[in-house]
Amino acid sequence: MLPRHIAIIMDGNGRWARLRKLPRMAGHQAGMETLRRIVRHAGQKKLEWLTLYAFSSENWRRPAEEVGSLLALLKLFVRRDLRDLRHNNVKIKIIGDRCNLAADIIALLHEAEEQTKANNGLNLIVAFNYGSRNELVRVAARLAEKAVSGALAPGNIDEALFAAHMDTAGIPDPDLIIRTGGDMRLSNFLLWQAAYAELSFVPCFWPDFSVQDFDAALDAYCKRERRFGRLLSHSAENEQNAVFSDPMAGHNRHAAREAAEMDRTKQRHYSVKKA
Ligand code: FPP
Repeated sequence: MLPRHIAIIMDGNGRWARLRKLPRMAGHQAGMETLRRIVRHAGQKKLEWLTLYAFSSENWRRPAEEVGSLLALLKLFVRRDLRDLRHNNVKIKIIGDRCNLAADIIALLHEAEEQTKANNGLNLIVAFNYGSRNELVRVAARLAEKAVSGALAPGNIDEALFAAHMDTAGIPDPDLIIRTGGDMRLSNFLLWQAAYAELSFVPCFWPDFSVQDFDAALDAYCKRERRFGRLLSHSAENEQNAVFSDPMAGHNRHAAREAAEMDRTKQRHYSVKKA
């Protein structure tokens, strides 16, 4: 089944630039072009939800010059692309902590949401000043305030109520999380929401991530069996039994196919594109 919600950790802009002896900012600019291509493509594919990790709450620790450049890119994105996104029926929502952000940035984020709120095509979620632990702590604080004020009985806190207080309230959990750049971790991204997400680590730098890479991750996702803690479906169980009764098959066939595909992609990106 096609995923409803794909989330992407766009990693590797800096290394992409370094390989080309360019300043890191050039990598972020190239990353912005990829972002535009992927948003357009996701809209054409009729994906319902796309979440992009644009700026983490930990990114403030980068040198001031790079932080400034990323903020400038965000402003440029809203100023230049908002009209197109609005006309292409994209609805924008920003997740992340807005406390302590500069007033002009808060206004910009608000403008992006306001100008696209009537749209009903692709839901584009931009994670800005976002960190999962920060989000969870904010939820805990809000629930504690309600409990102290008497508006909420602690015994009534359940998963649904907790989720309803998160930045992602009303948004389905991501089905697939893609990370580029070669690292295999979530880096404080959607930790609660990723509980049952399928993960895809694409071994190329974000500026090199193509619509074909996106489609390949989608295809691989469609071949996976998601169980959410339940047992295998009958057909998948038969297939796995066949694998386990075959002494030559050491591991799951889908995983082997995905690993082979990953190797081919790696060769394509790190050897050919590096040259
Ligand atoms: C990670 O690359 C990427 C980011 C920190 C930001 C992603 C930003 C964009 C794609 C540009 C659009 C930006 C906004 C704010 C809309 P990295 O710098 O960590 O790369 P590295 O791991 O190779 O150093």
